[in-house]
Amino acid sequence: MPTRRALIAATPLLVTGCSGGENPYDRAVRDLWRLPDLGGGGAPMMALIHAATLAANGHNTQPWRFRVEARAIEILPDFSRRTPVVDPDDHHLFVSLGCATETLLQAGLGYGWAGEPEMLPGGGVRIALSSAKPRPDALFQAIPRRASTRTAYDGRPVDAATLRRLEAAVGREVGLRLVLDPDQRDHLTDMIVAGNSAQIADPAFMRELTDWIRFDAAEALARRDGLFAAASGNLTTPRWLGERLLPLVMTKKGEAERVTRWMRSSAGAAIFTGPSETPDGWIAVGRAFTRFALTATAAGLKLAFLNQPVEDLPTRRRMAAWMGEPGKRPDLVVRFGYGPDLPRSLRRSAQAVLLA
Ligand SMILES: Cc1cc2nc3c(=O)[nH]c(=O)nc-3n(C[C@H](O)[C@H](O)[C@H](O)COP(=O)(O)O)c2cc1C
Repeated sequence: MPTRRALIAATPLLVTGCSGGENPYDRAVRDLWRLPDLGGGGAPMMALIHAATLAANGHNTQPWRFRVEARAIEILPDFSRRTPVVDPDDHHLFVSLGCATETLLQAGLGYGWAGEPEMLPGGGVRIALSSAKPRPDALFQAIPRRASTRTAYDGRPVDAATLRRLEAAVGREVGLRLVLDPDQRDHLTDMIVAGNSAQIADPAFMRELTDWIRFDAAEALARRDGLFAAASGNLTTPRWLGERLLPLVMTKKGEAERVTRWMRSSAGAAIFTGPSETPDGWIAVGRAFTRFALTATAAGLKLAFLNQPVEDLPTRRRMAAWMGEPGKRPDLVVRFGYGPDLPRSLRRSAQAVLLA
């Protein structure tokens, strides 16, 4: 999804905040990215939903609705938030539901509610909750710190013990291929660039992406969804200007250079391949990715998706063949490494995504 990156690094404009005191965007971020202390009282349904909404999700569309029962929470797809161009079969939508599911489960463990997930026929998840001993461990603490960090990292490698922990976090149901070798990394970079170039050349892709960009803080705060440009770098601009600048700053050459720089600055990349090409399989991928991401965050690592080669069909086929699994669908590509903090994204409130 090139424009996130293009907007982030290729434009000359800077984020303008209020001088003196905290600006409204920063205040909203501070209020959002924390897990409330429940002080041991009651079933923390709204706290669990809040935590779930902090999960990674495609284009930050937040394609979920939550239904609360006495001892269960359902996470249901919100098809009004589809992104049909980049995600024609709702793969990312269901991966996002998986991310929310795993985040809710990890939050539950921290708060003292063990969750038992069950797949629903329409492609959602019902999580039955039972009281347990609270275990606010490192993964729980990592929930409000996990982020998509779209910038260059510092090139430091990740030690073997940490890599083993990342592999263990993913488990066995979902395949994980770590790409650490420089030659293999360059090959993967070529495929990311190929997918990226195809997307840039597609006006429908660009239109959809533009619709989900939040070009300035006022827009981001009003909507509390989408891709706030500054949350990935250093630009804000009014929409009318951002829409005009976009095609000028987002060139195939510039994007290729940026992807190459980002990949070379990373410690490695991870490719996730799910158990089946079905909503349940994609939910499993989102859950595995989230355990990986929380484990990485707890270890001080930063992550960012580079999903272009799994989004562009010809490149995805090429990648599956390169992986030696031509019959399978690689689901996600994520790079990781040590890097700086960037401004954060926003979410709609738990109340706003609750079904009556
Ligand atoms: C299925 C899926 C696909 C995604 N694809 C990309 C991608 O290709 N490029 C990217 O920069 N971010 C990608 N993201 C990250 C989302 O844009 C990000 O999670 C969302 O904007 C919220 O930001 P946060 O992760 O910092 O909380 C993806 C996330 C998910 C769950």
